[in-house]
Amino acid sequence: MAGSVFLHGIGELATPLGGSARKGPDMGALRVVPGAGLLAVDGIIRWAGPLGDAPSLPAGVAEIDAGGRAVIPGFVDSHAHFVFAGYRADEFYWRAGGVPYMEIHARGGGIRRSVDATRSATLEELIDLGARRLDTALSLGVTTMEGKSGYGLDLETELRQLEAMRRLSERHPVDIVATYMGPHSVPQEFAGKPSAYVDFCIETVLPIVAGRKLARFADVFCEKGVFELEDSRRFLEAAARAGLALKLHADEIVRIGGAGLAAELKATSADHLLKASIEDIAAMAAAGTVATVLPLTAFSLREPYADARAMIDSGCAVALASDLNPGSCYSQSIPLALALAVLQMRMSPEEALCAATLNGAAALGLADSVGSIEPGKKADFLILDAPSHLHLAYHVGMNQVRSVYKSGTLVHGPK
Ligand code: NIG
Ligand code: FE
Repeated sequence: MAGSVFLHGIGELATPLGGSARKGPDMGALRVVPGAGLLAVDGIIRWAGPLGDAPSLPAGVAEIDAGGRAVIPGFVDSHAHFVFAGYRADEFYWRAGGVPYMEIHARGGGIRRSVDATRSATLEELIDLGARRLDTALSLGVTTMEGKSGYGLDLETELRQLEAMRRLSERHPVDIVATYMGPHSVPQEFAGKPSAYVDFCIETVLPIVAGRKLARFADVFCEKGVFELEDSRRFLEAAARAGLALKLHADEIVRIGGAGLAAELKATSADHLLKASIEDIAAMAAAGTVATVLPLTAFSLREPYADARAMIDSGCAVALASDLNPGSCYSQSIPLALALAVLQMRMSPEEALCAATLNGAAALGLADSVGSIEPGKKADFLILDAPSHLHLAYHVGMNQVRSVYKSGTLVHGPK
């Protein structure tokens, strides 16, 4: 699948640079090259820069004219729940009518309904549902995507969700990073006993997930009335001992200090953070924990947005992701997420691009290999239907991606 290609006629090449997360003020410093070229050999970027500086081409490289369009790195969607069965459209309208998300959850709706549907789905059905969402992601320019379990909760279905992601990563152009999120909700079998359920996750599921290398990350819905700080800590510490890197759904609905726990445990990322305290944000900046903001969820829940401006100004690395899931946010609209980042969270267009590419890669521990256009990285890049990256947020909610290259191979759109 690795391809070799030389792109000329690039109206503007825009990319963050670096092999790790860009933090605070560095998020705004993109490399922007007008009149650029890009050379990828065997799936890896060999050179990118002003066209006049182009090296001589090795044999067998296809030449493509970008026609004055902008080229940016492929998006890295670092937070998504894309393998699930069933729908919860009714809940969307209940929430629109004023019923809070957690009230629906407490009444036994919410995540548990998706769990029932996912438990009833076969592996093939889950693969098919996941493939369709990956196809959509690819058309929006996503070249690397995270996927979480957590709609099975029992051993068998959690493994089936993770296995579906493993099979999909073998056959779909989008690279998938799998996360075991057993503590996503307390299942019926453990009703009222979150600690006992966490014991089950730690003792029964985690060793198999880690042993079969089915997931790179572990995640927990660290939330008041779901998994509180101590259960979250126990799960995450066990996951770290089993060799998994850590993520948290933190301080989304109620401030309980999940962001501080993420910093303390040196989690790779803490996500949502709508209610996180400024002290905990500062602790995350110091710990190098990426702050992942999910504005499509805040929008869908009609909650105030995470304070991305304060996060960046505190020196955090901020990532921007979809949170695609059947409940709180049935959207994988990267275009709308970019527009909300600029319009509602006061991020600059440069910061938003960095958050959706390099810092997303950092939130998946992949910043050394994807997330920017520079020599040595995977040749995952997008040709936009626009002359500049500034058009991304400006065309609010509209897809500006014309062509998608994954490892130097055209995988979506025209040449
Ligand atoms: O990230 N908050 C918990 N998990 C998901 C929602 C899952 C669902 O409602 O199905 C989230 O928003
Ligand atoms: Fe989520």
